[in-house]
Amino acid sequence: MASLNTQSRKHARKQQIRPLAGSLLALAIGFGVATAHADDALPKLVTKTPLKVGFAQTESNNPWRLAETKSFKDVAAKCGWQIVMTDANGSNSKQVSDIQSMIAQHVDLLVFPPREEKPLAPIVLQAKKAGIPVILVDRDVDQSVAKAGRDYITFIGSDFIDQGHRAADWLVKATNGKAKIIELEGTTGASAANDRKKGFDEIVAKNPGMTIIASQSGDFARDKGRQVMETLLQAHPDVTAVYAHNDEMALGAIAAIKAAGKQPGKDIQIVTIDGTKGGMDAIAAGELGASVQSSPFFGPLACDVAQRYAKGEKIPTWVKVSDRFYDKSNVQQSMQYGY
Ligand code: AHR
Repeated sequence: MASLNTQSRKHARKQQIRPLAGSLLALAIGFGVATAHADDALPKLVTKTPLKVGFAQTESNNPWRLAETKSFKDVAAKCGWQIVMTDANGSNSKQVSDIQSMIAQHVDLLVFPPREEKPLAPIVLQAKKAGIPVILVDRDVDQSVAKAGRDYITFIGSDFIDQGHRAADWLVKATNGKAKIIELEGTTGASAANDRKKGFDEIVAKNPGMTIIASQSGDFARDKGRQVMETLLQAHPDVTAVYAHNDEMALGAIAAIKAAGKQPGKDIQIVTIDGTKGGMDAIAAGELGASVQSSPFFGPLACDVAQRYAKGEKIPTWVKVSDRFYDKSNVQQSMQYGY
């Protein structure tokens, strides 16, 4: 579910002013950093079958990532794509080198979720310089370095700030605006973590009865979420709510809460983001309060955008994905959307 209408970027970052632009540029060239010019046109996309497409995944440690990868595998034949796939195993530098190798192989199109906003921005410029068009999916890069519509075709993804708002709105209602919250953040430096935090924290700030008593990264991983929650529970036994940036960390937190002899969903309300099958089962079991869906099904959207772009259509800088919302009122009838 996405609209191809032009979306204004609520979270668009201001362009940095660089007084020392000349010397920094020289320095960058000296260190071999790509320096595509802002006014260079975006590379064109050839129309041929098969189209060689590079898909560089960040990691494969959770159902969300697996569903995203599967969505590209499933669409490949239908879209006439021959996909080269890599997995960075949770490493920014590996994701960069995976993409560098795809550039060296002269793929026709690059599609990837940048693991973190800043480390993955320069490679977008390198691809542009090599004449390879790029579509970013799921997460975005630092807009002060590489900009959608100028350096890459578009960003296809959810509004992470809005996801944070929706999670917080649910928690405000569920707790009558009174909560001591532990926030389990996603991967530090990832746009998904930055914006989910921003959105949630904005709503909490407007509710004087709600306090974030601790906020720490669990790296979007179940076991890390469990370990962090275990430690934070000891330091903050008065916690009454948890906001996890994804379902996997929420499931880890549920395990830690049970191990501490408390009842998730009763003693501690939990809200999260993703809408995985595991998250939905936990809602049905009454342990998880709600999950804002974050759709991982980018394959068909990326195929559609690529075909339109190759025909010369104007593509909006943000192809926004709209997400469902699950709580006890609708989880049973929504199970078919779980992954
Ligand atoms: O960028 C999307 C996030 O990344 C998903 O919420 C999470 O599960 C994944 O690892």
